[in-house]
Order: sequence, then C-alpha cells, then structure tokens
Amino acid sequence: MCGIVGYIGEQNAYPILIKGLHRLEYRGYDSAGVSMINSNGELSVLKATGKVSALEEKCATADTSGTIGIAHTRWATHGEPNTVNAHPHMSQSGNLAMVHNGIIENYKTLRSELERNGMTFCSETDTEVLVQLIEFIQIKQQCDLFTAVQRALKNVVGAYAIAILDKNRPDQLVCARKGSPLVIGVGNNANGHKEFYLGSDATPIIEYTNQVIYLKDEEIAVMDRNGRLEITNLSNVKQTPEMHTLQMNLDELEKGGFPHFMLKEIWEQPNAMRTCLRGRLSIQDRDVLLSGIVDHRDKFIKARRIIICACGTSWHSALIGKYFIEEAAQIPVEVEYASEFRYRNPVIFPDDVVIAVSQSGETADTLAAIQLAEQKGAFLYGICNVIGSSIARATHSGTYLHVGPEIGVASTKAFTGQVITLCLLGLAIAKEKKTLSDQTFHMLVDELEQIPDKMQWTLEHNKNIDQFAQMFTYCRNFLYLGRGYNYPVALEGALKLKEISYIHAEGYPAAEMKHGPIALVDEEMPVVVIAPKRGMYDKIVSNIQEIKSRKGKIISVVTEGDTIVKNMSDYHFVIPDTRDCFVPLLAVIPLQLLSYYVATAKGRNVDQPRNLAKSVTVE
Ligand code: F6R
Repeated sequence: MCGIVGYIGEQNAYPILIKGLHRLEYRGYDSAGVSMINSNGELSVLKATGKVSALEEKCATADTSGTIGIAHTRWATHGEPNTVNAHPHMSQSGNLAMVHNGIIENYKTLRSELERNGMTFCSETDTEVLVQLIEFIQIKQQCDLFTAVQRALKNVVGAYAIAILDKNRPDQLVCARKGSPLVIGVGNNANGHKEFYLGSDATPIIEYTNQVIYLKDEEIAVMDRNGRLEITNLSNVKQTPEMHTLQMNLDELEKGGFPHFMLKEIWEQPNAMRTCLRGRLSIQDRDVLLSGIVDHRDKFIKARRIIICACGTSWHSALIGKYFIEEAAQIPVEVEYASEFRYRNPVIFPDDVVIAVSQSGETADTLAAIQLAEQKGAFLYGICNVIGSSIARATHSGTYLHVGPEIGVASTKAFTGQVITLCLLGLAIAKEKKTLSDQTFHMLVDELEQIPDKMQWTLEHNKNIDQFAQMFTYCRNFLYLGRGYNYPVALEGALKLKEISYIHAEGYPAAEMKHGPIALVDEEMPVVVIAPKRGMYDKIVSNIQEIKSRKGKIISVVTEGDTIVKNMSDYHFVIPDTRDCFVPLLAVIPLQLLSYYVATAKGRNVDQPRNLAKSVTVE
C-alpha cells in the first residue's frame, strides 16, 4: 500500500527521501510527496500526482534543503488521487506535516469533533484528521509532540504507520505504528555520528545501513539529531529497542539489465529456489530438515487439522500445499481466504495448526486471521518472504522463503517459493508422522532437488513466447483449465494475465467446464490448458476435445515429447517431466511469461499495474 520514508541526520534529506520513494514505488503509486525543514526552520511540503518522477520534476525548482524530512508514495483509500489528498498532510497552523499508511476507521467522528472545535480541513483524507487531532491536543493540552501523538493515538481506531515533522522541533522526528509496518534504520555518517532512516520496509534503508529496528504495534519512536532514539508504547512504558541485522543485498533491488522487475524475477526462479532449498533439503542424506517443524514436532504430529489462510496468489500456492500435505502427511488441510475467515466466526480447535502464507508478511486480512486463530488457542506457523514482517513476528514458528525481495507487483518467484516451501513442509511433517515409505520419501526428495534445473530448462525453452504473445493482445477473455495439482496453476495463470494485461481471464478445474463455462467458448476464446503427461492426462485430453468441438483456440502446456495434446493445440509450451505434485512449479513459468509478454505488447506497466499494490496493509 502506501510507502513511508524518513531521515534525520547531517546529510541532505531530499536525495535519500526520493531514492527511498523510488524503492517503495512498488507499494503504491498514484501520488507522492515530501516534506523537509530547512536550516531557516521553514517547513516545506511538495506533492505531485502520478509517479515519483512527477514529484522529482516539481521539486527540481523548489527549495529541497534540510537534514530532516519525511516522504510518502500513496495508494488511495480515502479520496481520489490528487495533490490535495496526497501526503504529507499539514496541520491547520502549518507547523506539523505527517505521512500515514493505514486507515483511521473512526476518522469521521474525529473530524466532526474537530470541526465543532473550529478546525477546517482541505482534503478528504483520514490522515489530515489525525494530524489535526495531534495539533489540537498539542495546543489544548500544552504538551510536546510526543505526548500529543501518544494521546491522539489512544483515540484512534484502525491501522497506522505515521511519521511527523514539527516545525518547532527541527531536531526531532517522531513515528508510530499499529497494524502497518515501519522500520527504523540506525546508521553512522562519515563523521561517525548516528543518523536515523525510516521506511515502510527495509528497501529504502539497506543502502545506508543494515542495522534496523522493527517498530512494534502501539509503539512511538522519537529520534533526534544527537543520535538519541527513544521508544515508548501507548501505555507510556519505555521499550528496549531490538536491533536486527539485515541480510538483504542492494543488487537484489535493481533490475540487473532486465526491462522490468517482473521479467527479472521470473528468470530468477531457478536460483531463488536453490536458495530456498539450501540447508533444508539434503541430497547426500536424502532428507528434509525444517527447523520450524522440528522445534514444534508435537504440534504437527498431534494436529487434528491444518488451516492455511492467505490471499490472492498466496491463496493459490496454499491450495497446492493442501493437495501435497494431505497426500504426503495425511492431515486434513483447509485453505481459507483470510478476508472471509477473519469475519465468519470459524471453528478453530486448540489442536489445529494455522498457517499464514504471505509474501509480504503484511497483508492486513492474513494478519487478522492469525490473530483470531491465536485467540482460539491454535498453533500459528508463518510462511513469509519478507524477514521481520508483521506476520513472521506474530506467528509461533515458521519458514522464510528466502527467494529475495520481490519488487514486481505481480507475484512470480514468491509463488514458486511458497509452493516449494509448502512441499518441504509436507515432507517434513510426513517424515515426523512416518506417513510415507522411505522409498517414496527419497524419490520425492531427489525429484525436488532437480526442480531448479528443470525450471531453468523451462525458461530457456519458452523464452520466445514474446514472438506469439502479440497475437493475443486483441482478446477480451481467456480461460485457463487444469486438474488436480494444476487447477490452482490455472487460477494463478488467469490472475497473472488479468492483473498485468487487464484482459479478463478465469481459471477453472477442467472438468467443471461442461457445468457452465463451456457456453463461453467460441473461435474467439483462447483456452489455456495445463496438460502434463501424468495422472489425469486422458481425462484432460477429453476436456480439450470438448473445447475443440466448440472451435476454442487451445494453448497447452505439455510435457516434453508429448504428441497427442501438442497436435490438438493451436499453440503449445513445453515443460520437462516431473512428479505430479511438482508440475505446478514448472507449468506456471510459461503462464507467467505469457502474461508478461501479452501485457508488454499491450503497452501495460507490468511492474506497477493500475489499482494494485504490492503490500495490502489495509482491508
Ligand atoms: C498477485 C499478488 C497478490 C498477492 C496478495 C497477497 O500477483 O501478488 O494477489 O498474492 O495480495 O499478498 P501477500 O502474499 O503479500 O500476503
């Protein structure tokens, strides 16, 4: 969603803030703004609609000096994207400037109360209400900024990560969080003096320091120019900051010669999977070791049921995980949309294991779902990519994907990372529960180890998809079909296409076609069928026949050497053979490439598709 950057130290803040906004642009991108206090004590606020580059153009002729500042890239929730609604928002006196990520749910009540007290508003945002409330308290109760923030936040219902500048305190940066992420970077400048960076995640910070503190819910931090950092919670209890060392590498945040992050991330998959498997899959011992499972062996052995909560692409990987865990470890698994689960009073037993799958680890619905499960006594396990993210910290145990930062808004390597991690999890539980024969277990371990090489093969053999993607740019609809493990792949293929090309697409279990959707098929309708020469091959051949009889155009994903489906298809993509359960890891690759090339042929912004955000920190 929105991205926050901040800095206080001895350097010029503006270049740090702008670079940070570019790094966070993947989170939200309908408008952006910066605010600095210069050496004369003047507070500037500069905003622009559109991309960060539009803000830069605006700032080119403005005074951008100052060694303290905050900045924001917005994904609109309250009020349309324009410069009035863009952040930073100022208080009525013009003394305070604030940026915010999250939603203040009771902002209407707070606004009416402030209006009754004579305050006026320029924007439609909940953020302006909060900054005005802080100033109102500061003036009415004659208190300093920290105390005003603390008192104001006690009146707030909702989620927030905020950073505030006070013109009267140019030596002080104040920030706070609840529900939305905020990371403080602690660095040393060339003179050896401490300086502080702020980010919605670590990407704007890593260039300057790898020492970070993840602010916890209901904590307020005050950073000053003399290197003092004080964290206090809403109940006024001082907190001891917990320093973490980031493992992230700056190269991972650059495009590395690719035209888009998405394409780079698609091609990174073989290596990303190798990193994910490293230390967890031992080929020498033909074994799987997941410390998150070993440390809580009993919870998994005794689990009555596993419930996986997730959203979007992560929900699709969870569905593949369900099929695998049920097959390998013989535990019933339910996969839930976190947004539905959290509001429907679900039955959760204390001997349930609830797994949250989330690339960002910040998805508001997934976080709320596990908080609910915790109240009901379940054991919580997190499968996240972003280290130190809220979900990773809210769960009792878990496994990181270790696939590197995913910047493209459409998830690719995180999806395959989640699938491979869920396969490792299934194998690790199966080992503890002894539900697989040694022979089957070893065969699966051996095959899993081959997957990164097979992914590389798949990429090399499908790199010319760009040459025919052009033909599909005119299409208004696509259907994606798969069976068994490949049904979730069909869902994922359809989601990828719609989110970056804006072409309508639906994924279906292939056999469900004849129960309705087949009515849509005519010569205009491309139907993508995942048809590996495995398990239900004959059945999917019949499904293809049904579509061909209605003149649908078949685009198939087939196993190398296949002739039957290949000859029935108008176009086909080839993948190497593997076990049924691992086919999704290969079959999804041509579908990712197809979406990418159709979208680029249509001139879409694939890394930052309209209306989408990478990290969905609001409901
Ligand atoms: C689609 C996509 C989204 C996310 C969803 C959940 O390409 O990326 O559907 O999968 O918003 O996000 P995480 O995994 O961060 O919880």
